[in-house]
Amino acid sequence: MRILVLGSGAREHAIVLALRAEQAPHEIFAAPGNAGIAGDATVITLDANDPVAVADHANTHSIDLVVIGPEAPLVAGVADALRERGIPVFGPGKAAAQLEGSKTFAKRVMEAAGVPTGRAIRARTLAEVEVALDTLGAPHVVKADGLAAGKGVLVTPDRAAALAHAEEYLPGGPVLIEEFLSGPEVSLFFLSDGDTVRPLSPAQDYKRLRDDDEGPNTGGMGAYSPLPWLDDRFGSEKAFVDLVTRTVAEPVIRQLDAEGTPFIGLLYAGLILTDDGVKVIEFNARFGDPETQVVLPRLLDPLSELLRAAAVGTLEDVTRPAFADTAAVTVVVASEGYPQAPVAGRALSGLDAASAIEGVHLAHAATAERDGGLVATGGRVLNVIAVGTTFDQARQRAYQAIDEITLPGAQYRRDIAARVSD
Ligand code: AMP
Ligand code: GLY
Repeated sequence: MRILVLGSGAREHAIVLALRAEQAPHEIFAAPGNAGIAGDATVITLDANDPVAVADHANTHSIDLVVIGPEAPLVAGVADALRERGIPVFGPGKAAAQLEGSKTFAKRVMEAAGVPTGRAIRARTLAEVEVALDTLGAPHVVKADGLAAGKGVLVTPDRAAALAHAEEYLPGGPVLIEEFLSGPEVSLFFLSDGDTVRPLSPAQDYKRLRDDDEGPNTGGMGAYSPLPWLDDRFGSEKAFVDLVTRTVAEPVIRQLDAEGTPFIGLLYAGLILTDDGVKVIEFNARFGDPETQVVLPRLLDPLSELLRAAAVGTLEDVTRPAFADTAAVTVVVASEGYPQAPVAGRALSGLDAASAIEGVHLAHAATAERDGGLVATGGRVLNVIAVGTTFDQARQRAYQAIDEITLPGAQYRRDIAARVSD
């Protein structure tokens, strides 16, 4: 197949690597890509957020499948433009992508579909915010309605801080005040062709910058998969995944289809396992980053066939994806100053020695070539991904690889998957 992957992060690099690992000799293109992706795919110059440009390119170059990584092209309508021209695309259209782009939309769909989620109150004024905070009680959860690059959510016991956060986002539109949910978080991905869903294996990510979940929220500092502790709560991973498929994914996909906005692509369910059952905290309309980096290395089926089946509506004919019984860990290496003010332009070295370690591979997020070497170009620079037979082994391999890497001022967490027992 000739496959075009849109995006430039470690998630897209992981997708490219999974496609390359297949037996089939695909021709893989990426836009805009990064220095690491350029080693594994043909990077092309193309504005990934321009629907017409992407559709023209795919048409002219006989692309068999377009895979959309980030949310921006989805919200811009890139999938719609491709679908109008009959080009298979993995990623929802603008309307269905509101599941991620608008928290109000997501809450409405969940309510209509009977999907368990926290109570939420929409507020348009500070007075409404005050009433909502008092109705739902502390700790307070305040969310901006639209895409806010992970910065729109504040969870706090402090009513004044909750009000200040709401005040910051209110000029841009309504905010949601949500019931606080307590319990471990799980990310579970579903492939959907608009009708049939197929689950992938669960993962957990680490959103805070520093060890022991301290410091500010980030785009994600690490992840691991599978989650062996699910067995204690649900009997097995399969029992958990089946439960979420039945109570969350299938009803939402049916609801969107009934509304005339079928969801074709990846449904990302962000879940909290409360004492009161599994509840949805958020949906995303795309693969999670960095969870994808630990889910795909364990996938035993050809990724391209799964994505294409979802894109062309034949997922029903595909059996549930199978996963290796291995442990996968990813540790994100970030620049000094991330997330507030990442320092760009620093030299990055030692990657060959790192990836030479058994079970280790690297996915680039913000790297570029300069003067024959590599430099970091943004906040999250690189993902070190390690697979092992046990979490102990995978973790050891990941941190051994990190020791080989030099990036002045680099930040990374030392406790990824540290509490997972095999
Ligand atoms: P979101 O962007 O909606 O995924 O929220 C970011 C993070 O905030 C989540 O991963 C949770 O850790 C936390 N969070 C969001 N909503 C809630 C909630 N209702 N209760 C507790 N924590 C939440
Ligand atoms: N890992 C969180 C996200 O992809 O949104």
